[in-house]
Amino acid sequence: MRRLSLFILGTVLMLSGCGGGEKKAESHLDPNTDAGRGEQVFKTHCAACHAVKGDRVVVGPSLAGVAKRAATRVEGLAAEDYLRESIIYPNDYTVEGFAEGAMQQNFATQLTSDEVNYLVAYLMTLK
Ligand code: HEC
Repeated sequence: MRRLSLFILGTVLMLSGCGGGEKKAESHLDPNTDAGRGEQVFKTHCAACHAVKGDRVVVGPSLAGVAKRAATRVEGLAAEDYLRESIIYPNDYTVEGFAEGAMQQNFATQLTSDEVNYLVAYLMTLK
């Protein structure tokens, strides 16, 4: 019984830790919006390779300002569509200076279509 209540206490502490202070401090978007949800998906699946501020290269290019760049990447492709394609079909367009295939390739099956929509909404805030 004591163990169980300790476990519950731990879980409650962990959950409140996630919802509260620590994550909020680094996140600036409302988590109840599509873009805010996208920011969370981004932290889980993308942040290991992409910075979103400055022009620091982690593995991939920084995505600071990507909403603007996205509109000019492929002729005839709107920014949102370009972003969606770069997640699902990363080799359709390869950013100059990076190797084709260096971006993770399996997001079409790893992410739900909702998650991709949220990500696109989030990336569109990176102006
Ligand atoms: C294993 C590292 C890695 C992961 C994980 C990764 N990327 Fe990338 N990404 C790259 C690399 C490398 C490039 C540049 C090469 C290319 O264009 O394919 C890139 C390119 C991009 C571009 C094109 C940027 C531009 O300026 O045109 C976008 C957008 C992008 N990634 C979004 C994402 C998103 C969203 C996720 C998470 C779902 C993600 N990436 C996960 C490595 C990664």
